[in-house]
Amino acid sequence: MPCPRCLCLQITGIQFLESRELGGKPLGIERFAQRLVFWRTTDGQPHVHPDRCPHLGAALSRAKICADRLTCPFHGIAFDAEVSAFTFRR
Ligand code: FES
Repeated sequence: MPCPRCLCLQITGIQFLESRELGGKPLGIERFAQRLVFWRTTDGQPHVHPDRCPHLGAALSRAKICADRLTCPFHGIAFDAEVSAFTFRR
């Protein structure tokens, strides 16, 4: 989980972007040859994950945020902030 203030990854201490750059939509960036998606839950907490859906590889930076879940634009799998739980869109 990135630092809410500067969006650096706390393990590495590397700042990926300014907090003000991250609004209410997922934001995809590339750093160190890795595509990442940053997004916020409704409590304002930023999250970062690989910008690749584990189902069939769609860019999660094109996802919508629904009920604090990142919803893949291809088949609607919704990922929570931990990208551990998911549900299918009905
Ligand atoms: S590619 Fe994301 S749900 Fe299928």
